[in-house]
Amino acid sequence: MSETTVLPVTAEQFAEAHGRVARHAHRTPLLTCSTLSRESGFDVRLKAELFQRTGSYKLRGPLNKLALLTEEERHRGVVCSSAGNHAQGVALAAAIYGIPAVVVMAENATPSKIEATRGYGAEVVLSGTIWDEANETAQALAEERGLTPVHPFDDLELIAGQGTVGLEIVQDWPEVDVVVVPIGGGGLISGVSLAVKSLRPDARIVGVESAGAPAMQRSVREGRLVTLDEVDCAIDGLKVKRVGEVTYGVVSRYVDEIVALPDPEIFDAVVWTLHHAKVLVEGAAAAPVAALLHGLVDAPPGAKVACVLSGGNVNLDQLRGLRWN
Ligand SMILES: Cc1ncc(COP(=O)(O)O)c(C=O)c1O
Repeated sequence: MSETTVLPVTAEQFAEAHGRVARHAHRTPLLTCSTLSRESGFDVRLKAELFQRTGSYKLRGPLNKLALLTEEERHRGVVCSSAGNHAQGVALAAAIYGIPAVVVMAENATPSKIEATRGYGAEVVLSGTIWDEANETAQALAEERGLTPVHPFDDLELIAGQGTVGLEIVQDWPEVDVVVVPIGGGGLISGVSLAVKSLRPDARIVGVESAGAPAMQRSVREGRLVTLDEVDCAIDGLKVKRVGEVTYGVVSRYVDEIVALPDPEIFDAVVWTLHHAKVLVEGAAAAPVAALLHGLVDAPPGAKVACVLSGGNVNLDQLRGLRWN
């Protein structure tokens, strides 16, 4: 990337977003992991967003987005549809700012996730059995009640908040050469790639998808936004049929490489990370570790590689029986 490229979110805007986010979010550590360094041949650090409030990075985007609403929008409230980490991120950010929040979840959502979202004070509406149906209800509620929708990934203000993960990596490790990031809809990697490149234009960004849902890899390869006919992926967060228009645009310009692995290799990396780094990450967050363990990250020996461990909200029933679906 040339020094003169104008980024859709500038270094100054990331610094402002960080000011808003850092008031309420934890500064998560950048852990060393000597076993992963040895196995991969790189100098590896792990950005531990599993220690973030709500258990994932998904609080950061809503903290930035909701802070930028007008008084009237705040008064009316926000709505999102999600059965996972986005629900909790929006619910907590809204509670922090005193904004009413409605979260639409599918009727078969995990009871503990429904409870966690209610626990942050959001109104939970159960609708449909898959995300698309819940999303239709969320759109209808937005119109009926004048609520502002908070998209899980395709929104530049949200992306600027998620990108504060990348800003902190560069602040804590200015020499970083490569940052490895999981991809679902592409919001996290869009923010991280823009934030890192705003400060370190030569750093490389590598995205990791499930091979059963390679919506971003296919879109970038084909040069158009592809909707997958079907997805064969059991990992919350990586299971996406179609990425966003904004995220596709950012990723195709600023992400250097996208790799993909089958779910079983990603799940093995959950257990590997628990064993060797002593932290419990969810499937999506283990994808960068899996990519390193399988030699999919191309960098010179000894390169300084940061992996984003994006969250730790594991379904314990799966872990107990080591059953993944
Ligand atoms: C823990 C975790 N990691 C990564 C992702 C993927 O993020 P994005 O959809 O912004 O690409 C998600 C999305 O839900 C997630 O929950």
